Amino acid sequence: MCGIVGYIGRRPALPVVLDGLKRLEYRGYDSAGVAVTGNGRVGVTKTEGRIATLIEKLAREGAPETTVGIGHTRWATHGRPSDANAHPHTDCHGKVAVVHNGIIENYLVLRQRLKDRGHRFRSETDTEVIPHLIEEYYAGDLAEAARRASLELQGSYAFVVLRTDEPDRLVAVRKDSPLVVGLGQGENFLASDIPAILRYTRRVVILEDGDVVVLEREKVTLTGPDGRPVSREPYVVDWDVEAAEKGGYAHFMLKEIFEQPACLRQTLAGRLVAGGPRSPAETGIVFDTGVLDTERVAALSRFFITACGTAYHAGLVGKHLVERLARLPVEVDIASEFRYRDILMGRGDMLVVVSQSGETADTLAALREAGRRDSRTVAITNVVGSSVAREADEVIYTRAGPEIAVASTKAYTAQLLAFVLLAVHLGVARGTFPAGRAARLLEETRRLPSLAQEVLDGSQALRGLAEDLARWDDVFYIGRGLDWAVAMEGQLKLKEISYIHAEALAAGELKHGTLALIEEGVPVIAIATQPDLTEKTISNIREVKARGGRVTAVTLGANRGIADHADEVVWLPDIDPLLAPILAAIPLQLLAYYAAVTRGCDVDKPRNLAKSVTVE
Ligand code: AGP
Repeated sequence: MCGIVGYIGRRPALPVVLDGLKRLEYRGYDSAGVAVTGNGRVGVTKTEGRIATLIEKLAREGAPETTVGIGHTRWATHGRPSDANAHPHTDCHGKVAVVHNGIIENYLVLRQRLKDRGHRFRSETDTEVIPHLIEEYYAGDLAEAARRASLELQGSYAFVVLRTDEPDRLVAVRKDSPLVVGLGQGENFLASDIPAILRYTRRVVILEDGDVVVLEREKVTLTGPDGRPVSREPYVVDWDVEAAEKGGYAHFMLKEIFEQPACLRQTLAGRLVAGGPRSPAETGIVFDTGVLDTERVAALSRFFITACGTAYHAGLVGKHLVERLARLPVEVDIASEFRYRDILMGRGDMLVVVSQSGETADTLAALREAGRRDSRTVAITNVVGSSVAREADEVIYTRAGPEIAVASTKAYTAQLLAFVLLAVHLGVARGTFPAGRAARLLEETRRLPSLAQEVLDGSQALRGLAEDLARWDDVFYIGRGLDWAVAMEGQLKLKEISYIHAEALAAGELKHGTLALIEEGVPVIAIATQPDLTEKTISNIREVKARGGRVTAVTLGANRGIADHADEVVWLPDIDPLLAPILAAIPLQLLAYYAAVTRGCDVDKPRNLAKSVTVE
């Protein structure tokens, strides 16, 4: 998720663009850059680091006074943060500059084709194919060249392009990544998100997939992918700037919960091979770094997962998936324990570390410990170029975009999906997960974004449940197997933002002690998404009910019988039970969120906690 800003008008462009980029830094901040047109060339200034670094560089090199410009703040997905990989990217002759937000899934094919036609590339990014395609298609009309280039692209993109010999226009194309037009007087704006332009105008047009827009000082022209005119109604934004950074949501956490359908789509983007799994050598999944060549995977003897907090809970789900599909014994450790328990690990073993930030001290220490023992290491992380990404042998990026709220939500479900892909890859490569079954499961993952949206669309009912929870000082979460792993995440969410004491336990463990705490009205959240364990969990629900506890069940729609036993039921869309944790997490996140709001807690910055714990 990156930030884009474009400006054409009568003011000096760079101050407007830089001001807009600063308001989009929550979308990405590992590198930044700007481009302006003037004296026959595109002027590009870009740098690794935050926008402040870019501003210093512009001060040193001189900031052109032109009135047309574009800018970008990056959240790397392809190519580590560096000056060369920062946007804007240009064509071979420095006449075209492009900034882009999204993922071009077919960039490798396009890059090779362009290289074969003599184009020279300067970065590792997927984005750089765009200016070269526009160079190819340019025949005197920048909008037409941009439209034709976009027809070659697969994946998600919002890109803005400027060209030296058309200095009085900006062109943009949008598909699956957000882009808005700001309408001014004698000036017009483009941005990934409204906060960037709210200072200058409140009249915006939200572009839709396929829209090609041409911005001039006095005119904005919209056409579709077929070149025919389209019309979009402007609307007036009534948010304040701070609310706008949260996209109109009250908190970053709520915004990030609702971003999960888009994040799951990005996690999958470009990773499912058409035709699906064929053989142990062709698992149907492509990872960023060609992770886990199949010979090495076949020789694996033991598998370890380690992480902290929410990432550890993702590891608990990962354990079930890898054991079931790859038939490998899996040990999961909290990283602060892993690093001190003199673990029996060596060559032929594999450690997966999970970390949203990629900077958690205990997780990083565990990764280094595995390296000292000559084990193969894989990082599942959300931050390109983070410490774990740089130090692990292989990396699987979750691509959830910057996660601002301390409580992890979208990164967690993206981690779960990454584990699904990893487990399928391992299972097919080891011949323990039949290609046909794997193909069906991978096809099912394509439904996740829309099913997650369905869960979110029906989530209003959770507010009342959460307001009830907020009245209690103790809440219990129970589940079996994968559901216990999800229960662990549910309790942490509630605890860390509402300050309600919560604990999760294996449902079968209730009668071994915790049942003593269940009395009239005590809330128990029972996660029951695994058909083979539902009857067992129902008997645990009845144990709770017999002591007066109040049970809310979270289950799949097919499991109608549970309604006869639970006080409330949160129904999830039916999906393969192996994927159910991804959907079950969402109501648990929302229950925690609304309970915290009811209690007046600081949802995005809960007391005593940090987003990334970079110390022991
Ligand atoms: C989760 O909501 C917490 N913010 C915390 O437990 C977090 O998951 C943990 O600190 C690990 O962080 P990481 O994923 O960045 O390594």
